[in-house]
Amino acid sequence: MHDDGDHLVLHGDTWLCVLTGAGVSAESGIATFRDAGGLWEGHRAEQVASPEGFADDPELVWRFYGARRRQAGGCSPNRGHAALAAVEQRLGERFLLATQNVDGLHAVAGNRRLVELHGNLWRTRCSACDRPAFEDRSDHEGALPRCEPCAAVGRDALLRPDIVWFGEALDPADLARVTAFLDEGARHHLVFLAVGTSGVVYPAAGLVGEARARGADTWLVNAEAPENARRFGRFLAGKSGEILPRLFVFD
Ligand code: OAD
Repeated sequence: MHDDGDHLVLHGDTWLCVLTGAGVSAESGIATFRDAGGLWEGHRAEQVASPEGFADDPELVWRFYGARRRQAGGCSPNRGHAALAAVEQRLGERFLLATQNVDGLHAVAGNRRLVELHGNLWRTRCSACDRPAFEDRSDHEGALPRCEPCAAVGRDALLRPDIVWFGEALDPADLARVTAFLDEGARHHLVFLAVGTSGVVYPAAGLVGEARARGADTWLVNAEAPENARRFGRFLAGKSGEILPRLFVFD
């Protein structure tokens, strides 16, 4: 047995891959996407989160991400984030956290074995050249930000948030890191835990299948049963900030 009731027992041979979504940051005051009052309620996602939307109306896109920067800037990690940082401390290389969140709160909480699948709200990059993304906390209210290296060679190029938008591919290196972890974990006791995600955006939503194919025990902690709940062996309904701090037991 690898679990007892509502406790996820972690043994010396357990490899734990955690996938988080917007629900983990809800108790920090950051809006989710698909809940009532969520970010996609007032916007068509493609308008503010696709390359086509950015080409059509970059002011609207920067207003959206500027507002998200202002909102997230005042938020701190919650008890759910802290619990995941603590479990990384215990497991070390036997832990990997893949997140769909762009708010950066897992890193603030202390997670280092972290893959930010959808980018980071606090980074900006050029929409034209491949200069590396850089840290940027401005909300760019007033004027659209432009790329200076591009301007230096006579090209007018807009900067954009370093977020993976709809229609864009995830960084293959990020997915490869998660897959390599699952491959290694499959040689041990592999556990896959998803937290606070509606499980509708791929490829992240497919990771539970990847884990199951490798024989993982699969757990889901979510406020309510999402469509894909039946793909998990165990489902615990509730808030991550309440469940995660008492979920893990070290054997
Ligand atoms: P969603 O908004 O789709 O789902 C959040 C899930 O968290 C829902 O199932 C809620 O029931 C649950 N939830 C809410 N509060 C919770 C809490 N306190 N504790 C536990 N669960 C809670 O967010 P994601 O699944 O993260 O992509 O969305 C995936 C992607 O879709 C996002 O990364 C974003 C979006 O389009 C991009 O912007 C590229």
